[in-house]
Amino acid sequence: ATHPGTPRLDPDVADDFAFAFDIDGVLIRGGQPIPEAIEAMKVLNGENEFGISVPYIFLTNGGGKFETERCRDLSRQLEIEVSPGQFICGHTPMKQYASHYNNVLVVGGEGEKCRNVAESYGFRNVITPGDILKANAATAPFRKLTDSELNSSRDLLEGGTKKLSDIVIDAVFVFADSRDWASDLQIILDIAQSKGGRLETRSETFEEGPPIYFSHSDVLWSAAHEHVRLGMGALRRIVETVFAETSGGKQLKTHAFGKPQLSTFQFATRLLQQWRAEHHGLVESAPPRTVYFVGDTPESDICGTNLMDEKTRDSEWYSILVKTGVYQEGTVPKHMPRKLVGNVLDAVNHGIQREM
Ligand code: G3P
Ligand code: MG
Repeated sequence: ATHPGTPRLDPDVADDFAFAFDIDGVLIRGGQPIPEAIEAMKVLNGENEFGISVPYIFLTNGGGKFETERCRDLSRQLEIEVSPGQFICGHTPMKQYASHYNNVLVVGGEGEKCRNVAESYGFRNVITPGDILKANAATAPFRKLTDSELNSSRDLLEGGTKKLSDIVIDAVFVFADSRDWASDLQIILDIAQSKGGRLETRSETFEEGPPIYFSHSDVLWSAAHEHVRLGMGALRRIVETVFAETSGGKQLKTHAFGKPQLSTFQFATRLLQQWRAEHHGLVESAPPRTVYFVGDTPESDICGTNLMDEKTRDSEWYSILVKTGVYQEGTVPKHMPRKLVGNVLDAVNHGIQREM
């Protein structure tokens, strides 16, 4: 299914199937590549018995960096060229919300990184927990900003001409994992319980806080430690639980992007189509018959892939679960994959064998 007018960049490209990869626990763990991942990428790039190359994209719930930066890291780790045209991270879909809100609180990540990413997405007035702590250190009694944090934080009081209560937060976006759960929790809750997002105020009804978005909802993820680590989904649960506890039982409904949300997989479908067209010269309107999704977390990767398979008419979404991350061998996954394999290389070989 090659478009007649498009130069086919890659003469032996598989046009009716493709791969999509989760990153943590599948390709990378604690900043180091999972050994089979490098070989798996080579197989996809033509080092297989059929001499074909297979299109692929990456879909991680992680974040905290510019997409370009993360792609540079991945390129080095996996010894291939990874383009932002084949990459989606947890906060990528938040871009669509940049024009919806004026003042946003952006939480998570190292230093000023997430503020910079949010601004690059087009968010107009990005405020961070550090800015609020700089204006009122009593916000979080046990959190002291370092000198460099004080320097990089904004002066929300504008030299004493403004008060924090002059600022209304229109939405909260948790871009990446919190580096200080206690103060971030306090600040998110303060805003959730404020009068319509106005800083330093307290609602009487606890029903007028602005929307709160998390870039994903993974309670656990796979990092360098031998056991799984707590992720952003755990903070999300704490926010909701403590809100109810301190609001006379009122429920706080927060929102999450990332896997397993169907919209994230639909976003990935569009990216994959563009990537196949631009990089491989395939017809953009003709989707691959099968997309193999390789993940380690049943609750996000497998759940979302299976849901996508159920909801999509023109492609089959085929879930493959690996044993190198969150899923533990011998346990029953909450969501059943179409195939359970040892590692990402087995997953790639399985997909190719099933096709050829
Ligand atoms: O914080 C990242 C983690 O929750 C999941 O990343 O690549 O497994 O989707 P990934
Ligand atoms: Mg993972």
